[in-house]
Amino acid sequence: MQIKQLGRSSSRRSFLRASLAAPGVIGAAVLGDSLPSAAFDGTGITQGDINILRFLAAIEILETDLWQQYNELGGIQDSEVPGGSGSKVYTDALLTLDGDMSQYIHDNTEDEFTHFSFINGYLMSKGAMPVNLDRFRTLNGSTATGAQKIKRLTNLMELTVYTSWWTRYRSRTKNPDFGDTFPPAIPGLLKGKFPAIPRSDADLKPPDHIKAIAYTAAFHFGTIEQGGSSLYPSLAQRVTNVEVLRILLSIGPTETMHFQTWQDKAGNIDPLTDPTNGLMFPDLNNGPFPAGFGVEDFQTNLIMPEPTVFISPNLPVCSIIRPTQTQGAAMGTVRALTRDGLFSGQSAAFFAELNELAALADMAQRQI
Ligand SMILES: [Fe+2]
Repeated sequence: MQIKQLGRSSSRRSFLRASLAAPGVIGAAVLGDSLPSAAFDGTGITQGDINILRFLAAIEILETDLWQQYNELGGIQDSEVPGGSGSKVYTDALLTLDGDMSQYIHDNTEDEFTHFSFINGYLMSKGAMPVNLDRFRTLNGSTATGAQKIKRLTNLMELTVYTSWWTRYRSRTKNPDFGDTFPPAIPGLLKGKFPAIPRSDADLKPPDHIKAIAYTAAFHFGTIEQGGSSLYPSLAQRVTNVEVLRILLSIGPTETMHFQTWQDKAGNIDPLTDPTNGLMFPDLNNGPFPAGFGVEDFQTNLIMPEPTVFISPNLPVCSIIRPTQTQGAAMGTVRALTRDGLFSGQSAAFFAELNELAALADMAQRQI
């Protein structure tokens, strides 16, 4: 039965590939297909559940790849997270934000590794295909001393970091699920492609340059982990099996624990301008602030979600993760990561695979 399921899945994959090549076709053509809601096995796990888990496994593999690069240069290289030997200058720049930065980078890296290994292990225990992206490890990484000279899945050297989550979580009246938009904490990070790790030892000076690279990393940490914080509750709404739901409800909040930590650390930046490229980190507590926004939209110690509108403007405001709207959440995640430059240099085949995994996850429907 499982083989049959995988077979059906495979013909579906070619269909999806064709659909994805023609934007607009997929919605109408695929919605009539019953496969995402079909039973996967006799335990109440649906094909949709499997598709959601497979997308999450892919995202966790990608997260692991990027965190591994951070750990090699700026974390702690040990038996729990092996690889690399550290860059003292980069590590010291990160430590200006918090004396425990290296430990946190190490632990976040280990957590992501366990997320994808667990989800893949669970998939295999149910007779489903695990996710393996090794064939897409084609990108060059940093040549700085301390980094492993191996091929990567993700690119941390050409990032355009969206930091609107900073003001989104501080807003008391707005919620992206109601169509609201938010100004970025660091507008300069939208105005170019910036390294979040030293690309080579040449990036280790002058001091304000490597500090700006560490600051870019600090905000990228928050950007990545707030994405995970929204992704899990968004997808959980379309899971059918209670055990699969338990997996999403148990992993998702660890992403939020990461996010909370990184948001706190990013708030420790000093105002700074990178002398090599003009990238500016403003004074978040004292402004100047954009028109219509004030102190509390940027204040660095407001690291707990401000209560805001949720479900309906007629209900009391609530302190929540935002967004959690479920429709298109997987594809939205792929779009956001791509927009940030995380996959700069990746192949068309990589994007086709990732889009396909996301499209399948987005088609899953909760069966009741
Ligand atoms: Fe994760």
